[in-house]
Amino acid sequence: MGIQKVGIVGFGAMGSGIAQVCAAAGFDVLVRDVEQRFIDRGNERIAASLARVVKSGKLTEDEATAARSRIRGTLALADFGDRELVIEAVVEVLDAKKEVFGQLDAVCGPTTIFASNTSSLTIVEMAATTKRPDRFAGLHFFNPPVMMPLVEIVKAITTSEATVVALRDFVKRLGHTGVVSQDTTGFIVNRLLVPYINSAIRLFEQGGATADEIDQAIKLGLRHPMGPLELLDHVGIDVHYHVANVFFEEFKDANMAPPSLLRRMMLAGHLGVKTGKGIYEYDEKGKRKA
Ligand code: 3HC
Repeated sequence: MGIQKVGIVGFGAMGSGIAQVCAAAGFDVLVRDVEQRFIDRGNERIAASLARVVKSGKLTEDEATAARSRIRGTLALADFGDRELVIEAVVEVLDAKKEVFGQLDAVCGPTTIFASNTSSLTIVEMAATTKRPDRFAGLHFFNPPVMMPLVEIVKAITTSEATVVALRDFVKRLGHTGVVSQDTTGFIVNRLLVPYINSAIRLFEQGGATADEIDQAIKLGLRHPMGPLELLDHVGIDVHYHVANVFFEEFKDANMAPPSLLRRMMLAGHLGVKTGKGIYEYDEKGKRKA
């Protein structure tokens, strides 16, 4: 039968996207966040995204309604006792993640698999604090999870082969593609993405080209859907700054270090699409201003 009941901790942009993907694929989904207003906001995000999917003709109205009915919200991790897989998507702070997994470890049965959606932390550092380091892995989705078909399945040195097999099967049933990565900082995609975005910021801050020219060049020259600076605004200046610092700590490689413009943008509160201003400016709907 494989996994049927999925728990998701954290109902932000990633948690709600992952919940939507799971529910649309037929899984029973229980989501936990710390306040009812975050659960309401996550549900609204999913409703808006499902409406787009229906408009695109990829799901019918009935299928979208059925997907929504498979998602329940809770404020209590104590409700996660019957979950077969729990995916954590809370803030990118090690202690916050450890706290979540510590509570889950006491509530969930011994066969439940734990997975973290971390993009920058080390999986074994979380796994080793639980009683199930063999049933602990990374499941790294990409933003927006509904549109991005990749999931990195991250195998820590403690992760068993049976856990990797179960997660490969789970990702396949989502209709996504899983690639297995070892637990090295940044896994596969972010290991390459972080120095790439940093290079684009440096080129921009040194006056090598305008932001638009850099983004146009990459979109038209390499057929990427977004240029690096546009992507940076979508990921969030704060998120990239944090991740780049973690990577620099690990590798001591200057290409990983956040460029100085990033820190200044952070201090100014220019965090990208979510604050209406990053490298570019955006309206309330997140559309780029002309
Ligand atoms: N939900 C549902 N449907 C959506 C959607 C969403 N959230 N976002 C876009 N769509 C649909 C639209 O409805 C539209 O459908 P249609 O073609 O049937 O009309 C279609 O997707 C195209 O959307 P848009 O015209 O609005 O915009 P784009 O063509 O630019 O596509 C995109 C949007 C798929 C996000 C595309 O720009 C893209 O692939 N961007 C790159 C994203 C990326 O690189 N993500 C990885 C970030 S790094 C990361 O996540 C790692 C982390 O650890 C930091």
